[in-house]
Amino acid sequence: MATTNTTTQPRDSWGSKLGFVMAAAGSAVGLGNIWKFPYTAGESGGGAFVAIYLLFVIVIGFSVMLTEFAVGRKTGLSAVGAFKSTDRRWSFVGVIGVVSGLLIMGFYPVVGGWAIAYIYKIATGLLSTPEAIGDSFGGFISNPIQPLFWMGLYLVFNILVVIKGISGGIEKAGKILMPLLFAILILVAVKGLSLPGATAGLEFLFKPDFSKVDSTVVLAALGQAFFSLSLGMGCMITYGSYLKKKENLVQTTAMVTAMDTAVAILAGVAMFPAMFAFSMEPAAGPGLIFVVVPQLFAEMGGIVGLLLALLFFIGLSVAALTSSVSLLEVVVSYLIDEKGMKRSTAVFSASALMAFLCVFASLSLGGLGPTLFETGAFDIFDLLTDKIFLAVGGMLVCIFAGWRLNRSELEKEITNDGEIKFPLFGLWYNLVKYVIPFAIAIVAIAGVKAGFD
Ligand code: PHE
Repeated sequence: MATTNTTTQPRDSWGSKLGFVMAAAGSAVGLGNIWKFPYTAGESGGGAFVAIYLLFVIVIGFSVMLTEFAVGRKTGLSAVGAFKSTDRRWSFVGVIGVVSGLLIMGFYPVVGGWAIAYIYKIATGLLSTPEAIGDSFGGFISNPIQPLFWMGLYLVFNILVVIKGISGGIEKAGKILMPLLFAILILVAVKGLSLPGATAGLEFLFKPDFSKVDSTVVLAALGQAFFSLSLGMGCMITYGSYLKKKENLVQTTAMVTAMDTAVAILAGVAMFPAMFAFSMEPAAGPGLIFVVVPQLFAEMGGIVGLLLALLFFIGLSVAALTSSVSLLEVVVSYLIDEKGMKRSTAVFSASALMAFLCVFASLSLGGLGPTLFETGAFDIFDLLTDKIFLAVGGMLVCIFAGWRLNRSELEKEITNDGEIKFPLFGLWYNLVKYVIPFAIAIVAIAGVKAGFD
């Protein structure tokens, strides 16, 4: 969370602002960018998906994040309280957020567990047999027990962080490992781009072929924007509630959005050229980074390849952790504030429920466990949260801000009582009040309908 500051030293207040941006960026940058974005882009046909995603990030994502920060800072409360304090009837929007957090945590730790498992696998010789890397991933996730062990370990890390309140170690680790992960991604991208046949990957990612677009692709792009920016579930409302009154919300939003998007695009550039060079299928699915990255580093060879591969998965695990603690915290603070639980009780009950959901998610990938609608639990949590709950949550936040709060209140909040110039305020306001709710409704209805066809 934002560190303390003194008003006498301008350097301090800047430092505190950076601390906040890093915390919010820590929530945003996670598996969504590095694991989910590349494989979703691959499954959704590439360039056109990326173009629509970018449009949604700039127009919808930016506006919704600014709205969440403003609502959070104005009320000084977290997800449910922020709505409840204005109007009890709106509390349900916060509750939807809590449910989304719970459902996302019904699969996120499974993938977080894979990331930790890969640190171990790489340290114990995975790279020495490059030909076996693909099969090894398939074997690993369909093993009923192994992934559960790593998922459990990953959840334990989350519990430790959230029980102590968000502070200390993880944030410090994030400050060092995030930039390092960024640097490694650049390196992977350069390495991938140097392989023969790599340009086809860039073309796939950046040359839009709009004939491939249908309502499922548009909904996937919208869901990806919300998931990646941590929007639509009260997370950024909670973070906004810690923001100082004098800080510039517009600038902060721009910085978090830009960082998050940069990491996603970079992850795409790190993955696709290499995949095309290795003649892998772009629609490889959730295993994408767990196969491409080890292969690339195996190809690089030697101790340097090994070290970089290790650092990549350590960085990925930490990026995942800084996101999932924010998810767990939304559920925990709800249980504390609204249900009067003790912090430790709240953390344990929330995590127990999450662990229970994760067991189904994990087993469903191995073809075990009950399946619904012919898809596994993993896909269902993923579909509900990323494609529906978050977008609908974002839509409701916009309706709340646009129709329940006044324009002048919002203008005061966003411009810090007129101190900050935001020439686009009118545009933002109209987007939030009219355009975004409508656009989300259309995309969600069309996408869900197509999903059932
Ligand atoms: N944005 C996170 C990621 O990309 C996931 C997340 C979603 C975190 C919603 C908080 C809230 O991994």
